[in-house]
Amino acid sequence: MKIAIIGGTGSMGRGLGEQLAKGHEVIVGSRDPAKAKAAAAEIKARGSDYSTAAKECDAAIVAIPFSAIDLMSSLANDLSGKLVISVINPMKFEHGRWLYGLDRGSAAEMLASKLPKSRVATAFNNVTAAFFCKPEVSRLDVVVAADSKETFVEAAGIVKSIPNLRPLYAGPLSESQTVERITPLILNLARINKTGSLGTRFVSQKD
Ligand SMILES: NC(=O)c1ccc[n+]([C@@H]2O[C@H](COP(=O)([O-])OP(=O)(O)OC[C@H]3O[C@@H](n4cnc5c(N)ncnc54)[C@H](OP(=O)(O)O)[C@@H]3O)[C@@H](O)[C@H]2O)c1
Repeated sequence: MKIAIIGGTGSMGRGLGEQLAKGHEVIVGSRDPAKAKAAAAEIKARGSDYSTAAKECDAAIVAIPFSAIDLMSSLANDLSGKLVISVINPMKFEHGRWLYGLDRGSAAEMLASKLPKSRVATAFNNVTAAFFCKPEVSRLDVVVAADSKETFVEAAGIVKSIPNLRPLYAGPLSESQTVERITPLILNLARINKTGSLGTRFVSQKD
C-alpha cells in the first residue's frame, strides 16, 4: 500500500514512516520538499510536498500539530475517497501538567469536516514516537475510532503491519475525543510517577 505521511518530518511522522516503510511504500510529506526528501532518504521512502504525497497515496496519516489542522482543507480533493488516519492530539501544558485542549468534539472530527470525501479514522494517538524506535520492546494496544467497520478494518491493517501493535475498535469517530484524551493522561502519569514513556495496553482474563 502507498501511505503518505502528512507531517512525515516530525517526531511522530518519522517514527511511523520508519516502521511502515518496512512493508509499504511510504511517501514522506512536508511543506518543504527538500526537507521531505532528506527525511525520506533516512527511512527508505520517498519525499514530496503535501499535495503530491496526498495525490499519489492510497491512504494517508496526518501527523501535524493541531494548530496546523486548517491546512488539510487544501488536500481535500487529493485525499477524496481515501482512508485518512488522524494521530493528532489537541493538548496544552498548564501549571505543570498536560491538559486536553478542546471543550467539544475532537481533532479527528475536525479533520473529517475538512476532508468530507475521505474516510477518517483516529489511531496511534496514544503511542509515543519513542515506541517506533524499538517496537520489539513492548506490546501496545492502538484504539481506533471510525464511522464504519470497513474503515476500522482498513486502518487496523496498517496498525497490524507494525510489530507489537494490536488495533482495538472503539466505535464511531465521535469516540475520538475519549481516545485523544488518553494522551495527556499517560503523559502526566509518566511525568508524575517518573516511569519513562508509557503506552496503553488493555488486559483481558484470557491474557
Ligand atoms: N510525538 C509524539 O510522541 C506523538 C504521539 C502521538 C501523537 N502525536 C501527534 O502527532 C502530531 C505531530 O506531533 P510531533 O511530535 O511529531 O510534532 P513535530 O515533531 O513538531 O512535527 C510536526 C510536523 O508537522 C509539520 N507541520 C505542518 N504544519 C506545521 C505548522 N504550522 N507548524 C509546525 N509544524 C507543522 C512539520 O513538518 P514540515 O515542516 O516538514 O511540513 C513538522 O515536522 C501532533 O498532532 C501530536 O499530537 C505525537
